[in-house]
Amino acid sequence: MPSLTQSGWEPALRNDSSGLVSAVVVSGGRFGDTRGVAATRTGVDNLEEIVSAISQDSNSATPDRDPHALYGGSQQRRINVTDLAKAKVSGEKWPMLTAYDAMTANLFDEVGIPVLLVGDSAAMVVHGHDSTLPISVDDLVSLTSAVVRGTKRAMVVADLPFGSYQESPAQALQSATRFMKEAGATAVKLEGGQRVAPQIRALVDAGIPVMAHIGLTPQSVNTLGGYRVQGRGEAGHDLIEDALAVAAAGAFAVVLEVVPAPLAERVSKEIHVPTIGIGAGTGTDAQVLVWQDLLGLTAGKPPKFVRPYANLRQIMGAAVAEWGADVASGAYPDLDHSYE
Ligand code: KIV
Repeated sequence: MPSLTQSGWEPALRNDSSGLVSAVVVSGGRFGDTRGVAATRTGVDNLEEIVSAISQDSNSATPDRDPHALYGGSQQRRINVTDLAKAKVSGEKWPMLTAYDAMTANLFDEVGIPVLLVGDSAAMVVHGHDSTLPISVDDLVSLTSAVVRGTKRAMVVADLPFGSYQESPAQALQSATRFMKEAGATAVKLEGGQRVAPQIRALVDAGIPVMAHIGLTPQSVNTLGGYRVQGRGEAGHDLIEDALAVAAAGAFAVVLEVVPAPLAERVSKEIHVPTIGIGAGTGTDAQVLVWQDLLGLTAGKPPKFVRPYANLRQIMGAAVAEWGADVASGAYPDLDHSYE
């Protein structure tokens, strides 16, 4: 069997003297400048410094940042629905990322990402299925607990998986309750517009914050006929009706997935709660991505709306190939990494 190096993985990075892979190298992203690379050489202890340098750089027009800002603010308690509502009023845009384990969630939390979503995309990126449909409530409760344990500040939103809420408001309440009680989630997310408004109302009445998700709803891939742009032409009217319905039912935010940018902008102006875009252009209040897409770990060509800010597939592949070759040649472990 060919090694990774033989099959095209070339070590792009060498270990520095501390033994840490020396650079988070990014092609074309904002970590890709020399300052980011140099700062990373000393290892993860400098995370705060790196984040602060990058934040100052991307906010050079507004150097005095609000300590209550969702992204980059200094408050340490968990972000809640009131914080998001205030951001809608003040016009602050914010980032949301998926997370599925304690370690990466902890990193994203330290960087200051205010909302982490334990998405049912875990079915694909964690469990290796070709759609989001197979994942269960038990699977996602376990991942959500890990993300909650790994974080201090981020609001943790748990996805209600396919088949766990469509039947009735009572079924939705039973499933959502597990995420709140057993996993410690701050909120849940479910897919659908007008048809799930009764479920949203029941959960909100029971004290469970709900994030809605309309446009391309991957749990309905079989009725949508594939992962394609939603809301074009006449269908735009239905999407606006869906957004108004879920907001009126009490959703505290609405994900708009893969819809035309002008439509997403219009929805964002028409509803009073924050919109979170994924492939929905520039006019939404927030943006969400699957972290493996953002950081270039996903194999193959990413969707049009993804701009990878790192190439983790290359970095991790190169490091593993280098270690594998060192084990094979006897160069690892050496005396420095052995006990007397
Ligand atoms: O499951 C998920 O990751 C999602 C986001 C892409 C919005 O629903």
